[in-house]
Amino acid sequence: MGSMPPSPLPLLASSLFVFLFLLPLLCCAVAADGGTSPPVASAPSSPAAAANAVGELASSNGSVAVPPAAAAAPAPLVEGRRHHLHKELIIAIVFASIAGVTIVLAALYACIVWQRYRRGPDDFKDTQSTDTARIALVPMLSRFNSFKASKKCLVAMMEYTSLEKATGNFSESNVLGAGGFGCVYKGNFDGGFVAAVKRLGGEDQEYEKEFENELDLLQRIRHSNIVSLVGFCIHEENRFIVYELMENGSLETQLHGPSDGSALSWHIRMKIALDTARGLEYLHEHCNPPIIHRDLKSSNILLDSDFNAKISDFGLAVSSGNRSKGNLKLSGTLGYVAPEYLLDGKLTEKSDVYAFGVVLLELLLGRRPIEKMTASQCQSIVTWAMPQLIDRSKLPTIIDPVIKNTMDLKHLYQVAAVAVLCVQPEPSYRPLITDVLHSLIPLVPTELGGTLRVTTDSPRVSMHRSPC
Ligand SMILES: Nc1ncnc2c1ncn2[C@@H]1O[C@H](COP(=O)(O)OP(=O)(O)OP(=O)(O)O)[C@@H](O)[C@H]1O
Ligand SMILES: [Mg+2]
Repeated sequence: MGSMPPSPLPLLASSLFVFLFLLPLLCCAVAADGGTSPPVASAPSSPAAAANAVGELASSNGSVAVPPAAAAAPAPLVEGRRHHLHKELIIAIVFASIAGVTIVLAALYACIVWQRYRRGPDDFKDTQSTDTARIALVPMLSRFNSFKASKKCLVAMMEYTSLEKATGNFSESNVLGAGGFGCVYKGNFDGGFVAAVKRLGGEDQEYEKEFENELDLLQRIRHSNIVSLVGFCIHEENRFIVYELMENGSLETQLHGPSDGSALSWHIRMKIALDTARGLEYLHEHCNPPIIHRDLKSSNILLDSDFNAKISDFGLAVSSGNRSKGNLKLSGTLGYVAPEYLLDGKLTEKSDVYAFGVVLLELLLGRRPIEKMTASQCQSIVTWAMPQLIDRSKLPTIIDPVIKNTMDLKHLYQVAAVAVLCVQPEPSYRPLITDVLHSLIPLVPTELGGTLRVTTDSPRVSMHRSPC
């Protein structure tokens, strides 16, 4: 959130205009003076003096070849020249006035451009320039049948027909998942480019707001742990957002879907937690103003082919500027919403930290954030796990069976302690996401983005043995 550097634009624009307009004017004035003659006001008063003066000038400047006959020119010629000079002076003044007005207008324009630039995309520190991002998109998008890049919006506006064709007319066989406002489809575009196409629609007009909000934010942020926006499309009542395809789907599907977390080893889980923390840290600490995601959950953490995790779904995200209670409708997903936000509408970055803690518990325990006990009774993972998380003898027994006894117990205690802190009911007791991030780095192997050196003779025996 560093302050902006002083604007170079007004200065540049002014210099340019001074150069472009004043230089010709100066030349014009110099030319009007016969190159080297003194000002009109000091013109010699008699023909002889004039002849002398011109003769002197001619002799003082070898490059001006003035024949002696011309040097002895009679008075009417000087008078005519004076008249001519007077006309040129008026022209010069008119041009100078125009140039002056132009400079003022240019400076004003440059100031306006600079103000927009300050408020715009590059307010986000560490952000790849949106122009660069757009340029990077162009070769990829040019493979599409057709696309338009709206000037106002720095993302590609895609044609409905190309989305229809890529998704096989939104066929069920291409469905990647379903959300509250519609399905996400796999899109196979011309040239072999694949992407995820989210279709938003329905009765609830809320989807339009979320669509605009997501586009507005995602086009301005770029980070390796935030899902990339490819383009968008508006067609009749429907809205479409095209994202990079995340081959391994969502963390929710991986953990609670048919594979029941079997693809996720302890180290991969720690890597997913670290990647998510990096994405959140970017939103909280490196964006200006900071962004609160408001809907962090396992279905909004997507995994690419190497299990790199990226945060998605910015429909509910808010930047601190517009987080006041009046502007916001209480939103989020039950089980992940921090108590102070749910009860008092108090929204801070710590609400995301709470949701992160719940995701960490899902990774550790392999359980859903809210589980149905009986037809009328539900239990939250936080209330269920809390007493066991702080009991070292019980903790290893409640771990997801898929990863049970596969980790260093010290690491397990450490992660559990982080999770316990993140889900504290009192927001001020929760750590900042930066602190969480730094506590996770040493637990992730170097090849997965952390600093842990895993050797073949690591104390695997103690890793596998449960103390109970
Ligand atoms: N870029 C993507 N690549 C691959 N799969 C995706 C992508 N985006 C979404 N999905 C899949 O589609 C599912 C639905 O996503 P969507 O964001 O619409 O809903 P959700 O997050 O599950 O729920 P909600 O509507 O409450 O946000 C995701 O859970 C995920 O499995
Ligand atoms: Mg989602």
